[in-house]
Amino acid sequence: MTTSPSASLASNSSAASDLGQEKILVLDFGSQYAQLIARRVRELHVYCEIIRHDLPAEAIAAKQPAGIILSGGPSSVYEDGAPKCDPKLFELGLPILGICYGMQLACEALGGKVGHCESREYGRAALQVTSPEGLLSGLPGETEVWMSHGDQVNAVSEEFQALAATSTCPFAAVQHQSLPVFGLQFHPEVTHTPLGSEILRNFLYNICECEGRWRLSDFAEQTIQRLREEIGDDRVICGLSGGVDSAVTAALLYKAIGPQLSCILVDNGLLRKDEQAAVISEFTDHFQADLHVVQAERLFLDSLSGITEPQEKRKRIGNLFIACFKQEATKISGAKYLAQGTLYPDVIESGAAPDGPAATIKLHHNVGGLPEQLGFELVEPLRDLFKDEVRKLGIELGLPEHLVWRHPFPGPGLAVRCLGEVTKEKLDVLREADHIVVSEIKEAGLYRETSQAFAVMLPVQSVGVMGDARTYENAVAVRSVNTDDFMTADWSHLPYDLLAKISNRIINEVRGVNRVCYDISSKPPATIEWE
Ligand code: XMP
Repeated sequence: MTTSPSASLASNSSAASDLGQEKILVLDFGSQYAQLIARRVRELHVYCEIIRHDLPAEAIAAKQPAGIILSGGPSSVYEDGAPKCDPKLFELGLPILGICYGMQLACEALGGKVGHCESREYGRAALQVTSPEGLLSGLPGETEVWMSHGDQVNAVSEEFQALAATSTCPFAAVQHQSLPVFGLQFHPEVTHTPLGSEILRNFLYNICECEGRWRLSDFAEQTIQRLREEIGDDRVICGLSGGVDSAVTAALLYKAIGPQLSCILVDNGLLRKDEQAAVISEFTDHFQADLHVVQAERLFLDSLSGITEPQEKRKRIGNLFIACFKQEATKISGAKYLAQGTLYPDVIESGAAPDGPAATIKLHHNVGGLPEQLGFELVEPLRDLFKDEVRKLGIELGLPEHLVWRHPFPGPGLAVRCLGEVTKEKLDVLREADHIVVSEIKEAGLYRETSQAFAVMLPVQSVGVMGDARTYENAVAVRSVNTDDFMTADWSHLPYDLLAKISNRIINEVRGVNRVCYDISSKPPATIEWE
């Protein structure tokens, strides 16, 4: 039995890197942007992995990267205990690009001086490009860049040459004269640096001499082939939740092993409007997969009866989900593997990657514990991919756009959006209100721009007037957020007209609601879900 994700089947760390030996490694110094750097590199068709910053130089060399990027980070290089890389890294002869903290580290290691800036620089700055070749090839004399730093390189050793400067930062871009080491004080990976992708492209193609062979379609083909070989004649069980990750996992497995795949959907009565029907139609009409639907609404509602405490709700839902899934899974004879839609950010965040920085452990795991309990081996075909890559892959595999672009939905479902006690009546009201929120945002063409939008049923009633009559009915909150990583989020600045339409429709069409509020809290300090 295999339970360690790093040992799981089709853990494509090797599959992905086999696709062409071309690979860039990002050394993570705690930057909020490390994943973004890796995504940008992959968008430029070069495979990229994030690794620990303190891996020995020999171990890094053994991975045969075409180049290395040193990420930014919150520390100061001159502080005690500041994260450092193995200084021998600079002797490997590999192209290295240091970004922000990564640049300061590289310059300091090679004889430069890093100090505190007079004024902390945060935001847009005009970059004067003095050397528009190599790393900055094709850039105009002046271009906008995004700065976010308290320290900067104040003096470089004679070995370094400045390539560009801003009014406050004389060494905004530098190049070593004899080593292939480069540094950028600004962030090329963020969209606020409009020509950032050009700079990264120059690094990959001009300096690391990459050919750009990373393609999702190749990844899909090779993963399907690999899954076929490794699974052989065995049976795989895959839980479907209605979300994109499990759908793409199932679609990939279906392409690989067809009838040897059995999917399980536990309808806990906490799904969105028409969700069960949509999953059934997709996986039985389109893919003709062996789909087992467990109708468990009553069980879940009974178990939640009288429960108001959010963590207790989660616990009960999680346990019952495992029990239902297990019961159904044991009916499927001869299953050896359990498929999970684990993504690369989960792998990095859980520290599960062999070289991953052990950061926060992801708590939201829907089927955690299942493989151990059922004696399955894990199949995680998406563990090398970012969410946007999973979406693209879903489209390649023929899944419909509406499923692939669906906003994330929590495992405990509408229960954490139905504050206080969960009842069938409240859930039905919530489902209708939620459907209106999502349909109107789609209608306005803003669904893809927003990251997660939904309705929340509040445990309060308020006075209203409808016609000539006084009402005393429920209040619903509308939540819509924009975020890159769901760790921090801003509330979506939706147009007033759209908010007005959502509010009018909910109050007019959903019986039992007479008031709608819009949630304008960011995360932190609020969370995205209300419970
Ligand atoms: P919060 O509310 O923590 O949510 O800001 C961040 C993201 O995680 C989702 N979420 C969950 N997902 N099980 C899940 O599978 C959970 O218990 C859970 N709680 C929150 C939430 O929808 C958002 O996308």
